[in-house]
Amino acid sequence: MAGVSQNWVLMVTAQAPTDFSVIKYWGKRDETLILPVNDSIGVTLDPSHLCATTTVAVSPSFRKDRMWLNGKEISLSGERYQNCLREIRNRASDIEDKKRGIKIRKEEWGKLHLHIASYNSFPTAAGLASSAAGFACLVFALAKLMNVTGDESQLSIIARQGSGSASRCLYGGFVKWNMGKEENGSDSFAIQLVDENYWNDLFIVIAVEVVPKRILQMEEAISNRDFASFAQLTCAESNQFHAVCLDTSPPLFYMNDTSHRIIGIIEKWNRSVGTPQAAYTIDAGPNVVLFARNRKTAASLIRRLLYYFPPNSNDLSSYFVGEKSILQEAGLKDLKDVEALPRPPEIKENVPSQKYKGDVSYFICTRPGRGPVLLSDESQALLNPENGLPK
Ligand code: ADE
Repeated sequence: MAGVSQNWVLMVTAQAPTDFSVIKYWGKRDETLILPVNDSIGVTLDPSHLCATTTVAVSPSFRKDRMWLNGKEISLSGERYQNCLREIRNRASDIEDKKRGIKIRKEEWGKLHLHIASYNSFPTAAGLASSAAGFACLVFALAKLMNVTGDESQLSIIARQGSGSASRCLYGGFVKWNMGKEENGSDSFAIQLVDENYWNDLFIVIAVEVVPKRILQMEEAISNRDFASFAQLTCAESNQFHAVCLDTSPPLFYMNDTSHRIIGIIEKWNRSVGTPQAAYTIDAGPNVVLFARNRKTAASLIRRLLYYFPPNSNDLSSYFVGEKSILQEAGLKDLKDVEALPRPPEIKENVPSQKYKGDVSYFICTRPGRGPVLLSDESQALLNPENGLPK
């Protein structure tokens, strides 16, 4: 370490997306290596709406590895963090910052400590794959800091050992995590099926609150941009997942009344049109993720959602975040427009339709998004460049 002084801090900041699975990750065959029992497919969500941002820093002045998550210091002693840090350190290469006179040789990385700060742009533990985005971002940022070279699949294998779905969050668009067959997990990594521009008409709305055959059909539906098949498979996969959760002992209840109501709204709408307009999927949490086939149907979807779940406050702009242009497309400028929304045509005149004000805390409207990127602007770093502590 040929630093002029021992006070330097070298750091890298990255941003990684989260994803939502449309073919679910049903369980693990190996808990430590995080090897799944099936292949899964996820859609990477636009990081400008949902992402993890992580700064990783190294300095000879750091006394131990430390991490701050959403501003609070957390322990790195868990197996998942330890496995990721060890695997990345094992693959580190020499680095040199000539301008600052800093040089770290490959074999020195094991002796240097790290500071890590990460923020999620969405609630941690909201069932929105925060640990998937977080581990993908951590592994991606560390690989850049430590100049890890070689095969991209290696990073997916390492991220997988932090959080299974993190293996998918290293890519944009639609991503498949191949379960692999090897006991050591060397063939269990994700690959990009299509990038984020491939199916660029697709909109995703999140209301915050036997697999091998289906996966082949899903791959075909994605490749053909076949929304009808995509919607049918996505809803069936989600319903089957929750049916199995209910059939375990003790039963696992992830859906609540609001989730059931949203499913009912979509099913009724799709049935009345005759072809799927929207699809729904729910993971191990109460939030409902909805897919609309294009901008126009996204607007029709939002009109229905806001009709049944109007905001509790006067502030439409914090009730509907992300792709706000869909509100304009839906003709909804303000709360008055929301209040004036007519009942959806699929509801018969003589059937009373109830509204559920306050049952959804807010909506996020997003799109398929890109994979991780470096944030080179120092103002975006989460650690102070002078002392490597959180800003
Ligand atoms: N778990 C949840 N969010 C995370 C993050 N941003 N980084 C690492 N682990 C996490």
